[in-house]
Amino acid sequence: MERKPLIAGNWKMYKTPAESEEAARRLAELTRGLTGADVLVAPAHTALVLVSRALAGSDVLLGAQNLHWEKEGAFTGEISAQMLVGSGCSHVIIGHSERRQYFGETDETVRRRVEAALEAGLVPIVCVGETLEERKSGDTLKVLDKQISGGLKKIFLKDGHSLVVAYEPVWAIGTGLTATPQEAQEAHAHIRKRLAGLYGETTAAAIRILYGGSVKPENIRELMARPDIDGALVGGASLAPETFARIARFGETESGLST
Ligand code: 13P
Repeated sequence: MERKPLIAGNWKMYKTPAESEEAARRLAELTRGLTGADVLVAPAHTALVLVSRALAGSDVLLGAQNLHWEKEGAFTGEISAQMLVGSGCSHVIIGHSERRQYFGETDETVRRRVEAALEAGLVPIVCVGETLEERKSGDTLKVLDKQISGGLKKIFLKDGHSLVVAYEPVWAIGTGLTATPQEAQEAHAHIRKRLAGLYGETTAAAIRILYGGSVKPENIRELMARPDIDGALVGGASLAPETFARIARFGETESGLST
């Protein structure tokens, strides 16, 4: 099954609203006419509405970095799926390792957020990945199994386009270390096998599985050459629109890259 690549930028806690708006405008220009990949940015919540306006008329998609599972209520500091939809989002990152590591995210809270996102019509980008310790002790696949079965337990999907999974080995995030394309491919193939167990072969074949962890213009092509790597979730290298656009245009010729 043909899966259109998705190149997603996670801006994490960077950029003021004005800076985000400017970067989004530039990115929209730099990716105009790009047909080889879908492009998405996930700015901070405070910038969503401005970025959504800056992207109007472009094909760049908008995602958020987190959401709460309740629709509304006395949950100071939280943001609901409806609020994200109303801010122009079509996607939302869920269960990023930084949220698991620093903010108490568990497979069960991931599951609740996924449920809320789907109910509101948002496409969840569910992040999974092992720590260096877990990789060293040979537990990578076991950790992925646990995160997938826990995070997607009793989650119904209408089709494979309503979910994106991101494999982000924790040890490769922001460290300059990248999983080798072979290591990433093995993890992705394993994830797809698990997804097939949950949703059947056809649905699993349509789910895009992104790789994340020190993706750059220099390494995107070799990653994308692997059969189960369907795109990238890019942190640091997504902050500069020029660099991010080069990643998004990975499939074009060098001359295409410079135009
Ligand atoms: P880096 O690209 O900065 O390693 O971050 C990856 C990431 O966490 C994307 O969500």
